[in-house]
Amino acid sequence: MNTNIKSELLKRLFEAKGNPISGQEFADEFGLSRTAIWKYIREFEEEGYEIASIRKKGYVLIASPDLVNAANIKKYLQTAAYGRKIDYHVSCGSTQILAHDAAQAGVPDGTLVVSEEQTAGKGRLSRPWDSAAQKGIWMSLIIRPSLMPQQAPQMTLVAAVAIVRAIENIAGIEATIKWPNDILINNRKVTGILTELQSEPDRVKAIILGIGMNVNQDEDDFPLELKEIATSLKIAGGKHIDRAKLIAEILFFIESYTKMYEKHGFGPIKLLWEGYSNIAGKRIQAVMLNETVEGTALGISEEGLLELQLDDGTVRGIYSADVFIKD
Ligand code: BTN
Repeated sequence: MNTNIKSELLKRLFEAKGNPISGQEFADEFGLSRTAIWKYIREFEEEGYEIASIRKKGYVLIASPDLVNAANIKKYLQTAAYGRKIDYHVSCGSTQILAHDAAQAGVPDGTLVVSEEQTAGKGRLSRPWDSAAQKGIWMSLIIRPSLMPQQAPQMTLVAAVAIVRAIENIAGIEATIKWPNDILINNRKVTGILTELQSEPDRVKAIILGIGMNVNQDEDDFPLELKEIATSLKIAGGKHIDRAKLIAEILFFIESYTKMYEKHGFGPIKLLWEGYSNIAGKRIQAVMLNETVEGTALGISEEGLLELQLDDGTVRGIYSADVFIKD
C-alpha cells in the first residue's frame, strides 16, 4: 500500500471531525476505485483504528490507536521538510544507530526515525536510556543544515528551546532547560537530547538529533534508579498526551529555530535559551571527564559554552559536562 495515500486518507478522515466521507468521494479525490479505498480502510482497522461504515453516508473515524506512526504524526505536521519522511519502528535497538546508517546512506534533510520502544536506547556518554514501549517519544531527526562542524553543539540548545516551546503548547507545562541537554520539570528530568555529527572538515554532512522524552509514564513505570530523578508529562500535568501531536509540534519548532539559527546566527537562540534556563546566577558544580570545577553560572557564551565564574574570579567556558546545581 502507498504510504503517502495512506497518510492523506487518514488525514482526511481525521479532519472530517466525525462527518462521514463516502467511498465514492474518496475514490474521486484520490483517483482510486472504491474497492481500493475499502482495502485501505480495512488496513487501518487492522492497525487499531476504529472506523464506522455508515450506510448511504460513508466512513467515520471513531478512534485512533495511540501510536507514533507516520500517519498519526502527519495528521498534525506543519513543517516544510522535517518529518516529511518517517522511518517508523514498533521496536528497535536504538533510533540513533538507525539514523546514523540512514544519514550515511543519504536520506533527505529532516528524515525522522522513530520507535515505540528501544531495547538499547543510549544517552550521553553511552549511558543506557530507558525507553519503555508506547510511553515516551524515542526519536532521532536527521538534519543537514548549512553549518560549520564547530557550530553543531549549539544545535543541542536550538533543540532544547524548541522542545520547551512544544511542551508548553501541547501539554501546557512550563519546563526549564539545564545546560546542555536536559529538560526538567519540577527539577526532574523529562527529556534528554543527544546531538551527534557526521561531518567533513569544513562542512556538516548531517546532524543526528536524538530526543528521548518521558510522556505518558506513571510513577510506577520508572525503574527504581530513576524514580527520584525522572518525571513524565503525564505525572507533571495529570493527563495523557497525544505523542504524535507532540512530535509534530517539536518538529515544527526545531525546523523554525534551525532556520533562524542558519539565517541570523546564535544570538536570537541564545536570548530564547536564557529565558528558559534554570542555571543563571546559581552555584554550579561541573563534572567533566578529567576534572570537576565549581563556580557561579553566568550564562552561555555566543558559542553555546557554559560560562562559569570560578571562586578566584576567572571565567571559564565549558564545552561539555554533567552539571549539578549546588543551591
Ligand atoms: C541524554 O540525556 O543522555 C540523552 C538521551 C537521548 C535519548 C534518545 S532516545 C532516541 C535516541 N535514541 C537513542 O538511543 N538515544 C536517543
